Amino acid sequence: MEAPGRIWFGYIAAVAIALVGLVTLDLLAIGLAALVLVATVLGEWYRGRQAALAVAAQDADLPELVSRWARGWAYSRGFPRPEAVPGGVRVEVSEPGRRVEWVTTDAPDTLAGLVDTARATPEAWLSVVTDSPGGVRPWFAEGGLQVDGEEALMSIDLADHGSRELPDGYRAEVEREGGIIVVTVRSGETAAATGRIAVIGTDAVADRIQTDPEHRRRGLGGAVMGLLVSAAREAGAVRGLLVASETGEPLYAGLGWHAEARVVMARSAAPPTSVESRHG
Ligand SMILES: CC(C)(COP(=O)(O)OP(=O)(O)OC[C@H]1O[C@@H](n2cnc3c(N)ncnc32)[C@H](O)[C@@H]1OP(=O)(O)O)[C@@H](O)C(=O)NCCC(=O)NCCS
Repeated sequence: MEAPGRIWFGYIAAVAIALVGLVTLDLLAIGLAALVLVATVLGEWYRGRQAALAVAAQDADLPELVSRWARGWAYSRGFPRPEAVPGGVRVEVSEPGRRVEWVTTDAPDTLAGLVDTARATPEAWLSVVTDSPGGVRPWFAEGGLQVDGEEALMSIDLADHGSRELPDGYRAEVEREGGIIVVTVRSGETAAATGRIAVIGTDAVADRIQTDPEHRRRGLGGAVMGLLVSAAREAGAVRGLLVASETGEPLYAGLGWHAEARVVMARSAAPPTSVESRHG
């Protein structure tokens, strides 16, 4: 994000109105000039603050991104706030087959202990955020966990997010539930595509992005993302985070998101999952 420049138009307008006021001795015009000047200064201050927040949000390291993503994800899904543990977070998912999930980085000093803990916990998931999935999978195999797919932790400066027109024949609804924004795209009364984004401070975590199989590859996923991001920016968010499924990743990449790391998932003994997406 570029540093915002001066709002020259505001200063020029303030000076012009003030000159008119002085020449005509019109107190109203002088007052208006003062108002325009104050609004311009406040506008510059606000833009500068947003830019500084965006820079701070982008400087985060991987453990911090993991914990910020997990916080938004848990909020979106109605889970309790994740608990910090060495190397990452522990989330009370409380779903059948997925009672608890650890989401951590691949730091070797914490990974071995977490693999043991996950194996000893029924219906537990362990998701490891890493630049080296091939280096993590042997830890799972040797630790007796079952590998369960790979996703991608992605992020974006929301100012750089692409937007996509809604194709003809569809209409979109945008609803807000507290800090969660929900978009539903309908064809008649049928929900053809949906998605949500949880806004926490300057972070926006996208979640449950899905298009009905009969309506896929028509641009609905992109349109949902564009609407979610636009509403999240209005709510003050500057940084987007999500964990993308295999099918979601190319869609997000095309909208400007970039992969921060891979997410390798494993679980203790439990029936295999049949969902298309584990975290998004
Ligand atoms: C991922 C998902 C949401 C995408 O939804 P979608 O409505 O098909 O998304 P779009 O149509 O906007 O884009 C999908 C692809 O179709 C392409 N596309 C868009 N409009 C198109 C058109 N008119 N004709 C042909 N292709 C088109 C896009 O370029 C994109 O291609 P890419 O994936 O190679 O980049 C959908 O596949 C899905 O629900 N998957 C299962 C759940 C899931 O994994 N969700 C993601 C969680 S992170």
